[in-house]
Amino acid sequence: MSHAEEEHEGTRRDFLYYATAGAGAVTAGAAIWPLVNQMNPSADVRALSSIRVDVADVAPGTQLTVKWLGKPVFIRRRTEEEISAAREVELSDLPDDVARNDNLGSVPATDENRSLDEAGEWLVMMGVCTHLGCVPLGDAGDFGGWFCPCHGSHYDTSGRIRKGPAPTNLPVPIAEFVDETTIKLG
Ligand code: FES
Repeated sequence: MSHAEEEHEGTRRDFLYYATAGAGAVTAGAAIWPLVNQMNPSADVRALSSIRVDVADVAPGTQLTVKWLGKPVFIRRRTEEEISAAREVELSDLPDDVARNDNLGSVPATDENRSLDEAGEWLVMMGVCTHLGCVPLGDAGDFGGWFCPCHGSHYDTSGRIRKGPAPTNLPVPIAEFVDETTIKLG
């Protein structure tokens, strides 16, 4: 192959490369747009993005499951035993040491950083297993918290993953007490 031919080959290859890369970029752009669009909540979803839950009748050691934005949310009123079990755990024993609390940002997964009130009586979290999305069962599992039977993930009394395939703690959504017996989600 002469020098001129080599140069021609090189140019042609470059052209093909750029043409392909360009088409790739366009395809990716086109694919991303509908997804972004779908993520914009519709007006009726926005109207429900905040709900108030009356927790006056929730006895210690029981939980309420409410549906919020199409997903279950666990609102648990914990017993003294559940609170101390959660607070005695060393951070180094946790597979996921981040609190996953939307109210606090990125902080360590201490029980204090996950519970709603200072005393730790109330724990609010999404009832969706962080492995593949099943709904874990309460009062179950090796750590006395929640157990996801789908593939065997065990969460403790603070909703932190302790054993099994789930990669992260159950997320704590934006929540606050707006009066003594009402919790606002969102
Ligand atoms: S979905 Fe919960 S363990 Fe797999």
